[in-house]
Formats: sequence, C-alpha cells, structure tokens
Amino acid sequence: MNQIKSFMGRRQFMAAAALASASALVLKTLGRIVDPIFKTNIASAAEKAASGAKASISTNPEDIRKVGGLKCLIIYFSLTGNTEKIARSIQKGIIQAAGHCDIIPMKEANPNKLGGYDLIGFGNPIMGQMRWNTYNFIKAIRYVGGKHLFLFSTAHSGGNNFNALWTLFKEQGLIFLGGRAYKGAEYGPLGEPCPTDADGHPDEIDCQDAEAFGRQMVENSRQIYAGNTTLIPEPPAEINVEAITEVDWKKHMEGIHWHLIYDKSKCLYPKCTLCMDICPVNGIDLTVNPPRLCDPCLPCNMCDQVCPTGAVTVDPIQMRWQNAIHDYEKMGRQRLAQLKQGIKQEERQRQASPYGPFNTKQYLTNEEVAEGYLHQVYKVFPKRPRFVIGYGRPYGIDPRTLEDRGPVPENWPT
Ligand SMILES: Cc1cc2nc3c(=O)[nH]c(=O)nc-3n(C[C@H](O)[C@H](O)[C@H](O)COP(=O)(O)O)c2cc1C
Ligand code: SF4
Ligand code: SF4
Repeated sequence: MNQIKSFMGRRQFMAAAALASASALVLKTLGRIVDPIFKTNIASAAEKAASGAKASISTNPEDIRKVGGLKCLIIYFSLTGNTEKIARSIQKGIIQAAGHCDIIPMKEANPNKLGGYDLIGFGNPIMGQMRWNTYNFIKAIRYVGGKHLFLFSTAHSGGNNFNALWTLFKEQGLIFLGGRAYKGAEYGPLGEPCPTDADGHPDEIDCQDAEAFGRQMVENSRQIYAGNTTLIPEPPAEINVEAITEVDWKKHMEGIHWHLIYDKSKCLYPKCTLCMDICPVNGIDLTVNPPRLCDPCLPCNMCDQVCPTGAVTVDPIQMRWQNAIHDYEKMGRQRLAQLKQGIKQEERQRQASPYGPFNTKQYLTNEEVAEGYLHQVYKVFPKRPRFVIGYGRPYGIDPRTLEDRGPVPENWPT
C-alpha cells in the first residue's frame, strides 16, 4: 500500500480513498436502513470493505497515526474502581498496538456517538446479571453495524455477563471479537462474608493480562477487517436479557424491600458530596429541598459505604433480610476452607472457559485466615466510612494488602 501511495502521489491517493469511502458510506447508510428489516448484512459488508482497505495500509503505529488507522474506544461502568483499572490497562495495550484509544465512563458516554469507532471495548462489574443502567445504555446505542466489539468484566467470583451483554450489543450489528473476565475485590455491604478470595484483585498480574488482551484485540481487529474472518470467535450464547435484568428498577426495589434512610442531622453537605459523587445513576441530589434520594437507584449500596457519618444507611430491615437469606456464618465457614485451599494454590492459574485463564492469587496467609475473621462486612469494618473513592478500605487491617490503615484518615471531612 505504501508503494501504491508513492506511485499515485498523496493527492491522487487521498482522492481515490475519498471516492472509496464515499461509496462505502452510501452502502453503509443503505445497510443500516434495510439490514434490520430484511436481515441482510449490507452495512457490515460495506464496513468490512472500507475498513479492510484501512487495515492493510500499515501496521506501523507511526503510519497509523498519519493516515488514520483503527479508531478505538473503551466504555466502562465502574463503581469501586476495579473495572476502571482493567479498562485503563486494556487501553494501555491498545495504545501500544494502535497508537491511540479513547476511554470514557458509561455515565458520560453518548450512545449515539459510537459510529466513528472501528473497535469498541465495553466493560462492567457483575451485579447479579445486569443492572438497568447498563441495559438502557446499550439499548440506546445508535446502530453501528460491522464494527468490532470486545467485552470485559470484573466480579468477586471472576464470572462474567457476556451472554447478556452480547445479546444486547448484537442488536446494534456489532461483531464479537472476544471477552475477558477478571476477579475484583468486593466493597459492597450486602455481598460475601469478608474477606473474600477476590481481595487484592485486580492486581499487577491481572493488569498485565488486560494489557496483552488489548494488544491482541487490535491485532485481531486489523486482520478481521483485512478479511481474515477465521479470527472471529464463537460469540457468547444469546439469552433472554429482560428475564434476568432488573429493567424496571422501581419494581425490582419493591421486590427486595430495599430502602435508604437519610438522617439530615448527621449530613455534612455541602462540605461533603460523596454520596452524590459515587452514585452511578445520579440518584441523589442534596441541593434540593426535600433532598432527592434513590431516584433512580440500582441499588448498589455504595452511598452507604462512602458516607463518613452514617447519614445515609441501608435500611436495617433489609439488612436482616439479607442476613437471613445469606446465612453468613455458614457461608463464612465454607469460605474459610476455600481460602485455606487457595493459599496452597497461590499464584496458580485456573482455567475459566472460555474467557480465562484468570489469576486466582490469594492475599491472605494462614495466620490471617482464622476462624472468626470471616464476617459480614459490617462486623469487619464497623466504623464509617467503609470505602474511600480511589483508595478502597480506609482503615483497619485491609484484607486487600494486609496493611494496617489505623483510624479514619485525618483529612476525612468531619
Ligand atoms: C451491588 C453489588 C452487587 C454485586 N453482585 C455481584 C454478583 O452477583 N456476583 C459477583 O461475582 N460479584 C458481585 N459484586 C462484586 C463486584 O462485581 C466486584 O466487586 C467488581 O469488581 C466491582 O467492580 P467495580 O469496582 O468496577 O465497580 C457485586 C458488587 C456490588 C456493589
Ligand atoms: S442511590 Fe445509593 S444505592 Fe442507589 S444507585 Fe445511587 S449510590 Fe447506589
Ligand atoms: S456522604 Fe453522607 S455526609 Fe456526605 S453528603 Fe452524603 S449523606 Fe451527607
């Protein structure tokens, strides 16, 4: 292609490229209209043809920057920073391979403006199967037929929700390139007994894996655009997303009897805005009278976790209900056995088909894994706040690093 460029001269080359891309644009536009109706693949084929030419221009990052190579974007939803950490590592890998990669939190992304990208990565934390904010975002994406997609996730279990994500993304005409699932430390109050075997994740090994994954996705994308369709993997099986997603958040919350209690006398607003800052769906507004709380809500409980005074707390009735169904003591004993076993297997890689292997390194020694330490998070971290944005657990022995963080940080708002 470089020889063709020098033979034709830059101006003629650009003119020919413009003509080709104009025809592709006409076909793509036509395809976007007729493909969903007649189940054809005109937009995708036009995209492939146009991008195939693009991909074969050069694989040198310098040339890519000059003539416009793969345009890459990562969109992530992250409550406590784990998925963001993985997203940034993938971005690093993509930049190494493609020269550039935009990145944006889902909360700020415009679902109508993805059309300019050739390779899109989407990542989320596992909260049940999928929460309504993720569902609504993907549903709102304007058709981007023929573009390439990869998925990633973090979860305390290391599991993924790629079936649900793919089922929705497929409707937007994307081509699945791969997925990668990682473990992520859990900071919510209603989850597993604490500590969990996810503490410490994602760690350096996970981040290096994510970086390599990013590079691989660029390489595969280029080759697929160039016509090597053998690199397109089997996509995740489609499922009935509506049946397993809390699409109607009000109905879902009625079903679990979940309430947040607000005590204005303990609230530090306007000196503190932490609950508003962390809420992933802008569900809290303390600037209005009466304050708007949990409208909308996922629920995720993170406002409760970051509040330094307990001015917003999860309804104790709900906590009792959670205790009853989870049986923390029994679960804690099972987890104890797993952790002890895990310590023996430290740093071994476990195959997690087909989106692994993933890193199961344990961060606790036999001494730390002692009976009585495995409790609901409220017992392990009785003082507030229980989570600091961008930092993690603010005090006490952090199971993530085994660091003794002592009392609440001095700079914490009081
Ligand atoms: C409300 C809530 C629900 C969760 N549900 C699950 C779950 O069903 N399965 C799981 O493995 N992890 C679950 N987790 C743990 C998170 O998926 C895990 O901590 C993840 O790494 C968080 O990513 P983030 O830091 O990007 O938000 C849940 C966490 C929260 C806060
Ligand atoms: S209101 Fe609280 S529990 Fe609900 S989504 Fe916002 S941060 Fe999460
Ligand atoms: S985090 Fe707590 S103290 Fe801070 S503004 Fe919210 S309710 Fe008030």
